[in-house]
Amino acid sequence: MSILITGGAGFIGSHLIERLLDQSRDRLVCLDNFNDYYDPAIKRANIQGFAGNDRVTIVEESFGELPAMRRLFADHQVRRVVHLGAYAGVRPSVARPLLYVDNNIRGTLVLLETAREFPVERFLLISSSTVYGRGAAVPFREDQPLGVPMSPYGATKRAAELLGLTYVDLHAVPVVCLRPFSVYGPRLRPDLAMTIFTEAIATGRPLPLFGDGSVRRDFTHVDDINRGLIAALTADNVVGQTINLGHSEPVEIRHLIALLEDALKCKANIEHRPAVPEDMPVTFADLSKAERLLDYAPRVPLVEGVRQFVAWYRGGSRVNSHPGPA
Ligand SMILES: NC(=O)c1ccc[n+]([C@@H]2O[C@H](COP(=O)([O-])OP(=O)(O)OC[C@H]3O[C@@H](n4cnc5c(N)ncnc54)[C@H](O)[C@@H]3O)[C@@H](O)[C@H]2O)c1
Repeated sequence: MSILITGGAGFIGSHLIERLLDQSRDRLVCLDNFNDYYDPAIKRANIQGFAGNDRVTIVEESFGELPAMRRLFADHQVRRVVHLGAYAGVRPSVARPLLYVDNNIRGTLVLLETAREFPVERFLLISSSTVYGRGAAVPFREDQPLGVPMSPYGATKRAAELLGLTYVDLHAVPVVCLRPFSVYGPRLRPDLAMTIFTEAIATGRPLPLFGDGSVRRDFTHVDDINRGLIAALTADNVVGQTINLGHSEPVEIRHLIALLEDALKCKANIEHRPAVPEDMPVTFADLSKAERLLDYAPRVPLVEGVRQFVAWYRGGSRVNSHPGPA
């Protein structure tokens, strides 16, 4: 019996595996194809904390391959799935939408089909706050109408959610959709704003700022997200539900820059660029459903999380923080 974590070598997945090793007795399967969306050496470094652990099996394969997934579910007696694997960048999805559709929609469907054939007790489908899109009422509530996704990435995440919810009714696959909001923490992806800003401020290079910095993001620490995911693995009354995992305290991007300047004790050299249409003006999680169903409450204040992130960055443990071809 094991828990399958897709995207287990990624930012969130590698933290989740470390946490599950501490908090559960299950065997874990870390599935990742170590693709070059960003430097695969970073992903190899991410798994170092558990690579030799005999409770973890690392499988280097794509979840888009149905025969391989059938073998994996059978061989490892997969009972729970945390499907974190995806192409996860908003802007790159504008340039390469077909890749996103193939991986995030078709790949998710392969896993749902496998879970239909080899029944599981829980299937966590990790979506994103980007599904709220343009026109959704703020704060974002799961039971209010969604807006139109502003990027192919957001559209693929919404499509994956819909497939998951369809499989609940049609094939009794016990899917729960989770929507994380702007996750950050040590080992953050190199393509995300907090990493790019930190590197720019620390090295004195120009900090590229799209728009005037007034867009707001509901930054949520990876430990809080993973507490929510672990609760969703066993909670009652969550199958077929869609649940936000956020912080519910959105801050302007220029405020984030100020927090990083404080933590790094350097001033940013901001280089203004035009706003981009795929950027949502605000993300803001309503957490009442997560509180009710998962007993979820974020614990890491942004100021503290940013200090911890900067301390990790200064520790120099990142292999190479430049994004690969996206
Ligand atoms: N980081 C955030 O702020 C954030 C916010 C909302 C939602 N999410 C979602 O959370 C999940 C994890 O995000 P992350 O930031 O850790 O990203 P990440 O890119 O660090 O991790 C994703 C991992 O999935 C792997 N992967 C991709 N396609 C694969 C395939 N076909 N087969 C096997 N492995 C594959 C990648 O190699 C990567 O290691 C994604 O689904 C993302 O959309 C992230």
